[in-house]
Amino acid sequence: MPLKINGGVIRFEQVDFHYDPKRQILFGLNFEIPAGRTLAVVGSSGAGKSTLSRLLFRFYDVSGGRILIDGQDIRDVTQASLRAAIGIVPQDTVLFNDTIYYNIAYGRPDASRDEIIQAAKHAHIHTFIESLPDKYDSMVGERGLKLSGGEKQRVAIARAILKNPHILIFDEATSALDSKSEKAIQAELKQISENRTTLVIAHRLSTIVDADQILVLDHGRVVEAGTHRALLEKNGVYAHMWSLQQRESTAQEAESDLARV
Ligand SMILES: Nc1ncnc2c1ncn2[C@@H]1O[C@H](COP(=O)(O)OP(=O)(O)OP(=O)(O)O)[C@@H](O)[C@H]1O
Ligand SMILES: [Mg+2]
Repeated sequence: MPLKINGGVIRFEQVDFHYDPKRQILFGLNFEIPAGRTLAVVGSSGAGKSTLSRLLFRFYDVSGGRILIDGQDIRDVTQASLRAAIGIVPQDTVLFNDTIYYNIAYGRPDASRDEIIQAAKHAHIHTFIESLPDKYDSMVGERGLKLSGGEKQRVAIARAILKNPHILIFDEATSALDSKSEKAIQAELKQISENRTTLVIAHRLSTIVDADQILVLDHGRVVEAGTHRALLEKNGVYAHMWSLQQRESTAQEAESDLARV
């Protein structure tokens, strides 16, 4: 039967997962994202963050426990209805060997040209597309124009905006952008995630300070949870990551100041 969305509450209950039985990746994860709220997941590379989004989209099934959306086990609903409810901006966007127009329209194939252009504008890629010789008809992918990492991310963001789903997943959605573009797009992402249940996976902590809840994942286990403020006060893993990143960004600013003189 199809998934019935009523607010879009996401629950992970005692979720265990392994890709290979010899190596467990997630250990008894429990968390809930209330309807319309934003949960951020941070943690070191390989901790299992992207795996969460793959499980939610059912690229894989859990090895133990269950994942519920509005009380329905995602294994009990049709895959088409599940995937229709979720928009993902993945860590690595794969583009089709087709026009950039087609690649954005993939988010919702029945969208009008106007809606596609609006989505591209919100994703800050319209001006770039208009600057191409063939504009929206430019071919991209292996046999066409090679887009940069940041351009591909913006195509993926445009797709998600066009899809207009109940649930959003951003997996390092702006990691390939420079900090100025990142700020501009963050504002858009914040707007589209308003009143939608959102899972954000982020490396740069400055992009998730407003999340309703932050989970720190380490080797497949939640080691800390709370708001940005509560986690800073706790002075644990998150606070340490935060101060490291603050120092890095100050160093980078100093470097770019030097480069200017
Ligand atoms: N298809 C797969 N088959 C086997 N192991 C996998 C597969 N995909 C991921 N893994 C392993 O699962 C672990 C968690 O991967 P995951 O992609 O969830 O990490 P992550 O927290 O998103 O890391 P990053 O911050 O680098 O993106 C890693 O150790 C990875 O090697
Ligand atoms: Mg990842």
